[in-house]
Amino acid sequence: MAFRVLVLMLLSSLLAHVIGSGMAQSDPCLDLTEYQYEPSPELPLGRRSFPKGFVFASATAAYQIEGAANQYCRGPSIWDRFAHEFPERIADGSNGDVALDHYHRLEEDIIRMKFMNLDAYRFSISWTRIIPYGKIQSGVNEQGIKFYHDLLDLLEKHGLEPYVTIWHWDTPQALEAEYGGFLSRNIVKDFEDYCDLLFKEYGHRIKKWITLNEPMVHVMRGYDEGLHAPGRCSVWANRACVAGDSATEPYIVTHNLLLAHAAAYRLYEKKYKAEQQGAIGITVVTFWFIPYNPDDTADVDSVQRSLDFNYGWYLDPLTYGRYPTFTEEESHLLKNTYDFIGLNYYTTYYSKNNTEFDPVHLRYTLDSRAINTRTYSHQNMHQLLCLGKSILKQ
Ligand SMILES: *[C@@H]1O[C@H](CO)[C@@H](O)[C@H](O)[C@H]1NC(C)=O
Repeated sequence: MAFRVLVLMLLSSLLAHVIGSGMAQSDPCLDLTEYQYEPSPELPLGRRSFPKGFVFASATAAYQIEGAANQYCRGPSIWDRFAHEFPERIADGSNGDVALDHYHRLEEDIIRMKFMNLDAYRFSISWTRIIPYGKIQSGVNEQGIKFYHDLLDLLEKHGLEPYVTIWHWDTPQALEAEYGGFLSRNIVKDFEDYCDLLFKEYGHRIKKWITLNEPMVHVMRGYDEGLHAPGRCSVWANRACVAGDSATEPYIVTHNLLLAHAAAYRLYEKKYKAEQQGAIGITVVTFWFIPYNPDDTADVDSVQRSLDFNYGWYLDPLTYGRYPTFTEEESHLLKNTYDFIGLNYYTTYYSKNNTEFDPVHLRYTLDSRAINTRTYSHQNMHQLLCLGKSILKQ
């Protein structure tokens, strides 16, 4: 698949630095001569290990840090409702009412970022701080608009560039109640209106826009496992779920997320880009996978399926316009809707063919018929390092 190139690029940069930082150098896979930088014994991995122009930033999500959740006319998102209605479904029963109190500690936090020598700050805008009930016709909150201007003023003052995420899982609760949020195609118009307001209001100051953050995690945790807001899933998958269907809803929500992303991209392209000269893209997440048993072809085959269910699910529609339920027109609308691809990478899993597949209990996380495991085996670790090496050679 074409996406492979993108993943490999990221992986190669990660591995280059992992390998460079002094791991077993006698390994036949490892040859450090190709790397440009010279590791120093005190600081094997540092800024100078990265190419010129590499942007270092810290990244946050509104609900996870802002706090002031019930203040200054902010409306509730599905996360406020989930955390308050089901505290028993949150590890420590807490919620984001105060969070890290970023709202009240803006300058202190930004000075810290500057002190860390960062170049940029990636934050997300809380939809319901700007439009408390989700729909533009239901009112715009001037205090919310001002808050993000204040934030941008401080970033300017301290010389950090803003990278802005438009939606980081915090769908307005009012839209969830009215039509099921991202389960309904109605969300596309409301999301587009929200984006229009953001581009109009902040587009002269923000040149890097990210429409959605990690849609796969939202869909998997929110609609298949019932662990994140809105906490929906099949009851057999998680008894805590009061409603949902893990076999169908993840796909419906993804469909509408993709359409919302495309609507935002097209709007920016048509109405703002020429004048504002910014870039707009999406941030997806994928794990990397290697076969659990490299000698078992069933495991080897399962790797591509695992990748497709994490990564191809979003990037295939964006690059080729393909999605099983798209019309010709939707396909066309979606194709090439990115100026850049953000890729969040955390770790690598082993992928194993799921021979125990149960055709009765269907759900998204089992549809790939692959089991993703972290179980360590020395043989696989060696293979991972060799894989990194062969990627770097390409
Ligand atoms: C992989 O598992 C499936 C069951 O999900 C099974 O039908 C298939 O034969 C297995 N593949 C191989 C190559 O063993």
